[in-house]
Amino acid sequence: MSTLCSPSASLLRRLDRLGRLMRPTPLVELTFPGVRVFSKLEYLNPVGSVKDRTAYWILRRAVERGEVDERTTIVESSSGNFATALAAYAQLLGLRFIPVIDPNILPANEAFLRRACATVVKVDEPDESGGYLKTRLREVQALCARTDHAYWTNQYANIDGMDAHYRLTAAEVCADMPRLDYAFIGVSSAGTLAGMSRRLKEAFPGVRIIAVDAAGSAIFGCTPRRRHIPGLGAGIVPPLLEHARIDDVVIVPERETARACRELLWEHGLFAGGSSGTSYAAIQQHAPAMRETPGATALFLCNDRGTAYLDTVFDDEWVTRLE
Ligand SMILES: Cc1ncc(COP(=O)(O)O)c(C=O)c1O
Repeated sequence: MSTLCSPSASLLRRLDRLGRLMRPTPLVELTFPGVRVFSKLEYLNPVGSVKDRTAYWILRRAVERGEVDERTTIVESSSGNFATALAAYAQLLGLRFIPVIDPNILPANEAFLRRACATVVKVDEPDESGGYLKTRLREVQALCARTDHAYWTNQYANIDGMDAHYRLTAAEVCADMPRLDYAFIGVSSAGTLAGMSRRLKEAFPGVRIIAVDAAGSAIFGCTPRRRHIPGLGAGIVPPLLEHARIDDVVIVPERETARACRELLWEHGLFAGGSSGTSYAAIQQHAPAMRETPGATALFLCNDRGTAYLDTVFDDEWVTRLE
């Protein structure tokens, strides 16, 4: 980790320019019986997902504190949207980024990372649980130990990752929505859930926060098992979860996610990825209870685009192979 020094003025200027690219994302209303359902289109962030906010804010705060400067190499264990956002923003800031990935990475994400980063470390040894998370984290520690001025963004425990959604994503919702009764928020690192739930509860004291997770994830105490749709879920309980303010939890099977993704596309015209479908499926499950409140208003995020999921969630044969 870099020693603390005064912030780099040139990195701050670049961050200001980057920040101006991050326009508020639109909020759209779906046609839905008996409940006003709104989706915030996070896939319209510059690099394509809700994790743009996390990457931008974590880098910004680290530069402001003088923990990241021109000499820094960013290191992170991620195969998904966080890695692609970090890769793009590190490149735009002129910083090196080494992503640590594993064989489950989507080919499109690996291609992106290999184009954006001079070094990509791909682990291939499964850990004791049969997954790769612990192997990847061990590799991150080893890389940080042997790299001068390494900075591990540590998305599962970084408070700035939560703050990103408190200050950016949720602040936009508060500015756009006069009323909110339910927010359905998917969980992996729990940064989005923790940050949004805290801000939304301040602005809408009666709002119910529904955490949405994938079946097979360990976050809410279930036995972890193999999951096939990236985005939501984790094999650990993320430290950021303790900061979240949760009223209810919905666990969605992967088949349901696939069904809901298709419904979002073919009935609502939203071409969104797995976690968006998972949250929409949770809304459908909660709809009878929500209809008891006149004018009930609900929100979910379309976290990323459907393109990376064409060979999985949107492929009939792939879906029939799901449990
Ligand atoms: C598509 C998608 N949806 C939802 C999430 C969950 O966000 P968080 O890590 O803030 O819990 C992620 C995290 O990577 C994601 O990639």
